[in-house]
Amino acid sequence: MTEIADHLIGAGGKRVRPTVTLLAFRACGGVAMADAVDVAVALELIHSASLLHDDIIDDNDVRRGRDSARRKYGVAHTLVAGDFLFSRAFQICGRFDAEQINWAAEACIALTEGEIMQSRFRNNPEVSLNDYLEIIYRKTASLFEQGARISAALAKPESPHMVDAIATCARHVGLTFQIVDDLLDVTADEVELGKPVGLDVREGNPSLPLVLAIAEDPEVARLFAKPNLSEGEVSAVLGRLRRSSVLKRGQRLAIEHGELAHEALARLPESRYRDCLHALIEQLLTRIA
Ligand code: FPP
Ligand code: MG
Repeated sequence: MTEIADHLIGAGGKRVRPTVTLLAFRACGGVAMADAVDVAVALELIHSASLLHDDIIDDNDVRRGRDSARRKYGVAHTLVAGDFLFSRAFQICGRFDAEQINWAAEACIALTEGEIMQSRFRNNPEVSLNDYLEIIYRKTASLFEQGARISAALAKPESPHMVDAIATCARHVGLTFQIVDDLLDVTADEVELGKPVGLDVREGNPSLPLVLAIAEDPEVARLFAKPNLSEGEVSAVLGRLRRSSVLKRGQRLAIEHGELAHEALARLPESRYRDCLHALIEQLLTRIA
């Protein structure tokens, strides 16, 4: 199981969740880094567990530029390795207060809800922008939000409002991150992405470009409703998305959430860690600039 976990975790990834968690702790005046590192590790283990399971659900062959664990080790062992990481994560969380453990559990519950909501809207052109925002809040932003909330609470800041401010900031960072990830599925190349381009189109996933295009392009709506698209149909959808206004509109939505993240962050006292978080938000946005 360690080998399977290592295969995924050793492949890198952006580690943006633990980065936000550690900076949130410092930005709220935290000093004892060991506590914050525990939260950051627990979060990344939960995220890794969810990726192992996600690659089984989506039948993904490639993750982080290498064979997915599912492809290399098979479904059964990958499934159990995900459970292993998830259990290890909660072993670490067990050190925290009951309220903080509950926040971590809430994030995990949201992850499962997000995954199920997403599959309910797979190949379903009824999906709305609101549905989309609900999905990405649950499947991505919740883990950012609760990670920051836990580490900020562990920092014991002078005002409880700081915990809320950093949790709000992290939620918008998570939303920005997922919106950017969805846009890159249409605009990036495979080497940059570490996974094939157009995966959301191929899988009928309700990603942002598709959700926006469905409402205005009947041909995209028709192909979105069709499972098992041919390579030609995937290229046709990608071409229509690239030529439409949805990428610009998606970029605007990412920028809006980036601004909301900046605003929440501005409620914290000035520090170099707060500056780093401001820079991180801008860095996420440059991926689609
Ligand atoms: C990847 O996103 C997947 C997720 C962020 C969440 C997956 C959640 C589960 C499988 C539920 C299991 C939960 C726990 C707590 C173990 P994506 O599919 O948008 O990205 P991708 O294109 O990189 O696969
Ligand atoms: Mg996936």
